[in-house]
Amino acid sequence: MAQDLGRGEALFEACKSCHSLDPAKQGMAGPHLAGLKGRVVGAAEGFDYSPAFKAARAKRVIWDETRLNAYLVDPDAMFKGGWMSPQGLDDEADRAAVTAFLMRGR
Ligand code: HEC
Repeated sequence: MAQDLGRGEALFEACKSCHSLDPAKQGMAGPHLAGLKGRVVGAAEGFDYSPAFKAARAKRVIWDETRLNAYLVDPDAMFKGGWMSPQGLDDEADRAAVTAFLMRGR
């Protein structure tokens, strides 16, 4: 699985224009994604989410592997009217690798 993590990390470069892995880093276009495993949806401190994400947060929806993989297929299908673009990763192996990287438990 070390290979997958490396691949996921490399693919995550494309997400870094909007997402940091450092919770202290504010002011990016998207919320930080540190410690995403088990995190409540829409709960990064200091980020003003779309109404769709705020509704999910109110319901205490949790990020796990299954949810993240499905989100990356089509973000707008999961959280209608959400603000994330680009809309998804088409390649299944790419999604699995990014999911494994973000869910590695740190
Ligand atoms: C152009 C900017 C941009 C890029 C590139 C981007 N995102 Fe996002 N992402 C966002 C925004 C904005 C949100 C917040 C969505 C909302 O509030 O509706 C978000 C939300 C998220 C969330 C939910 C976080 C939470 O706190 O609940 C995850 C997970 C995520 N993105 C993963 C990714 C991954 C993985 C990639 C790369 C494949 C990526 N994003 C690329 C802008 C981006």
